[in-house]
Amino acid sequence: MPITATEGGRAWFIETPASLYAIALDSNGLPAQRHWGSRLPHRDWAELLKGDTPRWISDSSRPAEVEQEILADGGLRWGVPGLQVIFHGANQSLELIFGGAQIHESGSESTLVLTLKDSLFPFWAHLHYRIQADSDVIERWVEIESGGDAEDDVVLLRADSANWFVDDTDDYWYSSTHGQWAAETQLKRGPLPIGDLTFTSRTGTTSHQANPWIMIHSGSATETSGLVRTMALGWSGSWHLTAQHRPEGGVSVSTGFGHEGVHLVLKSGERHVTPPSYGLATDGGFGETSRKWHAFVLHHLRPSRHEVRPVLYNSWEATGFEVSETNQMRLAEKAAQIGAEVFVLDDGWFGSRTNSARGLGDWYPNPARFPNGLHALTEHVRGLGMGFGLWVEPEMANPDSDLYREHPDWVLNFEGRSRLEARNQLVLNFARDDVKRWALDWLDDLVSTYRLDFLKWDMNRPFSQAGWPDEPCRQGSLWLSHTRAVYDIMRTLRARHPSLRIESCTGGGGRVDLGMMEVVDQFWTSDNTDALDRQTIQHGFSQLYPVSAMCNWVTDSPNPTTKRAVPLEYRFHVAMAGALSIGADLGAWTDEELDRAAAFVQDYKEIRDVIQLGALHRLDGTPGVTLSAVQYLYGEAVVILSYEPRRSLHRGARRTTLHGLEPNAGYLNHTTGRTHSGGYLMERGLVLHDALNTDPSNGTLRFSNQDYLSALTTLTRVDQLEN
Ligand code: DGJ
Repeated sequence: MPITATEGGRAWFIETPASLYAIALDSNGLPAQRHWGSRLPHRDWAELLKGDTPRWISDSSRPAEVEQEILADGGLRWGVPGLQVIFHGANQSLELIFGGAQIHESGSESTLVLTLKDSLFPFWAHLHYRIQADSDVIERWVEIESGGDAEDDVVLLRADSANWFVDDTDDYWYSSTHGQWAAETQLKRGPLPIGDLTFTSRTGTTSHQANPWIMIHSGSATETSGLVRTMALGWSGSWHLTAQHRPEGGVSVSTGFGHEGVHLVLKSGERHVTPPSYGLATDGGFGETSRKWHAFVLHHLRPSRHEVRPVLYNSWEATGFEVSETNQMRLAEKAAQIGAEVFVLDDGWFGSRTNSARGLGDWYPNPARFPNGLHALTEHVRGLGMGFGLWVEPEMANPDSDLYREHPDWVLNFEGRSRLEARNQLVLNFARDDVKRWALDWLDDLVSTYRLDFLKWDMNRPFSQAGWPDEPCRQGSLWLSHTRAVYDIMRTLRARHPSLRIESCTGGGGRVDLGMMEVVDQFWTSDNTDALDRQTIQHGFSQLYPVSAMCNWVTDSPNPTTKRAVPLEYRFHVAMAGALSIGADLGAWTDEELDRAAAFVQDYKEIRDVIQLGALHRLDGTPGVTLSAVQYLYGEAVVILSYEPRRSLHRGARRTTLHGLEPNAGYLNHTTGRTHSGGYLMERGLVLHDALNTDPSNGTLRFSNQDYLSALTTLTRVDQLEN
């Protein structure tokens, strides 16, 4: 049994294929973590339970509280609160006692529920733990229940999904990603300072600025070694994650929906279920950590699971708001010529939307641009052998739209206050049932009418002035209800249209998280399509999320946003490192460029199952700066994409060592025709840019300042080599 109760029901052990998570009631009688790391033999389990971690305790600190499974705010505690409640409008001390445990097994899934009860009021917190037989990821959430008389409303000021404890060492580092628009998911690693380190979003979305996960490890952890503990939140609205590094030792990470100022009213008999928080402990460094996350997401979260993403063409960078039936048809022809499989018409096709200031909310084809609706275009696209997709931004309205003129009360607002616009638009209140119904109806109709294969769901501004004058009591929870409504609509659309695939976009990668991953197939990674910048963005993205969910476009050179010129081959090789797609103005490409593009797309199609479904190994180098490479391993096939953005004249061609191969198997290199043992490739490695760096006749370095070298190298495992 993967979940075992011991000590007469006072301790629980959660065993995953390679990790062990132990919980026991502490000296306060509350569940506390006793181990989270590698699996240990049963004979050692009792040792793990021997009392609270020995530490100095004074009258001003109770460090043991960081070990508890939920950080209830009440009694003698001064740390970061994870669950804060006001009873009867006044009593703000939550004093929980243990109330029982249940273990469920169902197929390959096992669940533990620990119930805590307030000592005075009819109020329960059920702590849930769920594991899958094939994964080391532990999913946790809390179900909060309020009983008693009808007048006994409780107010939740904080309702985190879990507290994760990382036990005492003297060297804690963290990894996380941060960023901004056009520079999302920048990886940051550094020492974890003593104090509270909080990552948060107050935007109503996941945000460009931070992403809801953290890894805690020692300073010596590397891509291939070291114990790494990750905590991630599955939530696409505002959120917070606080790593509390106590001066007395120990780190706890409490994470949940919402930022400061949460105000959720729970009426008697109501339940609040928090979003899931996921935890993973691995001892194989950052690379193994990422691979385990990727496998978990593809097996258990993404709706289309292991389905390979098609090559999309998106016309946004080509035509912007200047959309017409003719220019889209011409682009579709070029897109089909180079091998695109789905044509996506971006912004500018509906209502009076000829620029960002008008029409948002009026979801019918622009009558001047598409007098007969979109049928002529969709038929043309299908006739070219491609699927058809549309851009939508359902959660928004321009004040200059019929929708807003008719329903000015549908947007977030406070009575008598200004309605501040960003990108000329306001946020619709999806917590309202009528708004949610309206959105589902027109989306359903759109998908049915045009038999859409794909929706790019965008969201281009954060919440502000998030009021709901008609429903002041529900105002505090509208942040929560809005995000849940988005999930519900996406789920319903998928259920009604099983072949529909959805991309989450929020002005680029502003809503990338494990919650969204349960309802969409892929993310628009960033509005920055400059291949060099993209390498760092993709590097950060891949730490947690699988590359098959990372949509990458090849666009024009110089790049329309950054003005950097990058050769076609490099642009393709960078975009191939995930779900390759095209976003260029193909009408301006030469025949030669189109032919080369078609060849790259064809190459990609032959190896995309390896890239999208294989195990990712990030090889040496700093992506976008030095020679770097990513390797994918899938069955017998190995694919390596390597990049050398800037040539160094005083260094010869460098070798890149491969990872994860079988030392005694042979691997045929399809570029050179030579076979090497896995051991050789992992120890000595390959010179991946050999042909460009050195003179093949004498092996000396060619005198050339050619930057932006890149290569696609494929190998196949062929046989076991003899010694
Ligand atoms: C922001 C997205 O990130 C872009 O790709 C594009 O769809 C624009 N919105 C359209 O307004």
